[in-house]
Amino acid sequence: MRPVVLHVEDLTIHFGGIHALEGSSFYVKEGQITGLIGPNGAGKTTVFNLLTGVYTPDRGDIYLENKSLLRKKTYQRCRMGVARTFQNIRLFKDLTVADNIKAAMSHQFKYPLLSGIIRGRGYRRDERTAAERADQLLELTGLSGSAELMASQLPYGQQRKLEIARALASQPKILLLDEPAAGMNPAETEDLKDMIRMIRDKLSVSVLLIEHDMNVVMDLCEYIFVLDYGRIISRGTSDKIQNDPKVIEAYLGGELNGDYA
Ligand SMILES: Nc1ncnc2c1ncn2[C@@H]1O[C@H](COP(=O)(O)OP(=O)(O)OP(=O)(O)O)[C@@H](O)[C@H]1O
Ligand SMILES: [Mg+2]
Repeated sequence: MRPVVLHVEDLTIHFGGIHALEGSSFYVKEGQITGLIGPNGAGKTTVFNLLTGVYTPDRGDIYLENKSLLRKKTYQRCRMGVARTFQNIRLFKDLTVADNIKAAMSHQFKYPLLSGIIRGRGYRRDERTAAERADQLLELTGLSGSAELMASQLPYGQQRKLEIARALASQPKILLLDEPAAGMNPAETEDLKDMIRMIRDKLSVSVLLIEHDMNVVMDLCEYIFVLDYGRIISRGTSDKIQNDPKVIEAYLGGELNGDYA
């Protein structure tokens, strides 16, 4: 049995009258790709905002390797090993691809990268380590050839990959991906699937994946939780989820087996 890396109990948050999450519990096992799916507005992104400390839950708790994250700030959770990408890409458009990754590593070094005024020996050593690690991530995400381009010059699919590389720069234990395949063409999506598998295998990172593209979810996820109106309505393997009438109903009329996008 694999250990659980992240678990969430009774997670609840209301925005005025909206019950964005209502008593949801789920977990991610170490070394697995776990899916978090559900129709628009189900509460998926809200889960990520709670996991990363953007919101504080009204009720419930979040544990990373059995340690509660509840009182930790966003940057502390990042240091403890939680990293995310955003549904809408957030990159430093006017930094190079490589510098976007290095900027996300800053907290791991004694000397501030990209802004070293007195560039002593310590700074140069940190800069070298950062550059080596950035190179590894660029290679893993297939962006090595674009390292010196401005982030804004990358095609959309590659910007999404850079977001993932940036998230990995903090050396997370768990990577939260919010709709990474959104807006990608079929070839880019295939590429993305290989990349996510490689991240899990080579970097030993566990993954929690929000995704509307069911081909991606069914191909990648060993286990899936389904949210609807803030509640977990089903969980299990892709076979079980695809045939669960509650899930099919939530997605309105059985589109889950078709091209729900
Ligand atoms: N800051 C907020 N203030 C008010 N309502 C919010 C806030 N954040 C989320 N909500 C509401 O909570 C519900 C869940 O939103 P959320 O963004 O988590 O859905 P989602 O499952 O990610 O949807 P999608 O698939 O469209 O991205 C929605 O009704 C949304 O309008
Ligand atoms: Mg969302």
